[in-house]
Amino acid sequence: MKVLVTGGAGYIGSHTCKYLAHQGHEVVVYDNLSTGHRELIRWALFEHGDIRDLARLRAVIREHQPDGIIHFASSIAVGESVQDPGKYYENNVLGSLRIMQALQEEGVRPLVVSGTAAVYGLPESVPITENVSLSPINPYGRTKLVMEWMLQDFATAHALPWFSLRYFNAAGADPDGETGEWHDPETHLIPNVLRAICGEIPALRLFGDDYDTPDGTCIRDYIHVHDLASAHSLALEHLLAGKPATAMNLGTGNGISVKEILDTAQAVTGKKVPYTIEGRRAGDPARLVADATQARQILNWTPQYTGITDIIETAWRWHQKTKRKHCT
Ligand SMILES: NC(=O)c1ccc[n+]([C@@H]2O[C@H](COP(=O)([O-])OP(=O)(O)OC[C@H]3O[C@@H](n4cnc5c(N)ncnc54)[C@H](O)[C@@H]3O)[C@@H](O)[C@H]2O)c1
Repeated sequence: MKVLVTGGAGYIGSHTCKYLAHQGHEVVVYDNLSTGHRELIRWALFEHGDIRDLARLRAVIREHQPDGIIHFASSIAVGESVQDPGKYYENNVLGSLRIMQALQEEGVRPLVVSGTAAVYGLPESVPITENVSLSPINPYGRTKLVMEWMLQDFATAHALPWFSLRYFNAAGADPDGETGEWHDPETHLIPNVLRAICGEIPALRLFGDDYDTPDGTCIRDYIHVHDLASAHSLALEHLLAGKPATAMNLGTGNGISVKEILDTAQAVTGKKVPYTIEGRRAGDPARLVADATQARQILNWTPQYTGITDIIETAWRWHQKTKRKHCT
């Protein structure tokens, strides 16, 4: 099949492009390179463009006639979304709307989007199933929920087939070291732990060690980026087979604490992680762990990287290979 990937120059998008290309699919990346990297577009044709540009989107869809679209392009930082909500509503809501309108104009075809666990807000119970209430507590999560509502309305009005994959914490890197996490600024835990180990930042800032968890630090569900990539491919095939539109969680179901990440990173790298303990961050729940039974059963999806050591090993390999060559 031929797949148009928005945000294919980014972290999860580039891994998905590699995965799709290795499955024998033709891939076209649509990206404005605002946070992505030209060097990471290695498995696809590249069309430079902004998702808010309806005319450009329509022209690219008309030219390439993709069988389906995977939509990663988005602004992704929760903290920034609180400071600058307009940026998030414009990029994530308006940008997603433009993609749906482009499909409405050029002919609807399956659309798989990046959802997020942030749509659940402070969960009522853990592990989190798709049936709990959707109550995002920050603009980032709200923009992703609005995107899902728009998808439902476009499905009703224009028969748009859609699939939203609600990831928990994306982590790790391509096992071959050909792509990996490359955000600036970096807000995610594992790359920041590796940066602290390498002396690129003075210390990791650990927010809160007095939570009601066994070691007092927050527990999250880390899902390897390769497993996210395979889920997108399966979701697209699901829609192309005419199966129903829906939203599903992607996670391993294993809760790992911040301290466990630090200990594992020390074991993998053989180096100490300098860290400082700071107060809790507003809106950080103690536990966020996925119940991904639906993805396993309905998509027949099986994550390959269920151990945190494997995940951190791939991230470490990428970290050493790229910008941080001084750290060996
Ligand atoms: N990283 C995570 O842990 C995580 C968790 C849940 C959901 N997500 C979602 O996954 C998706 C990908 O995240 P990521 O970590 O790969 O982010 P990323 O910043 O690495 O990649 C985003 C890509 O989208 C492009 N882009 C952004 N705005 C654009 C626009 N207006 N037009 C065209 N291209 C644009 C960027 O240049 C970049 O290449 C996002 O939608 C994010 O919300 C990520």
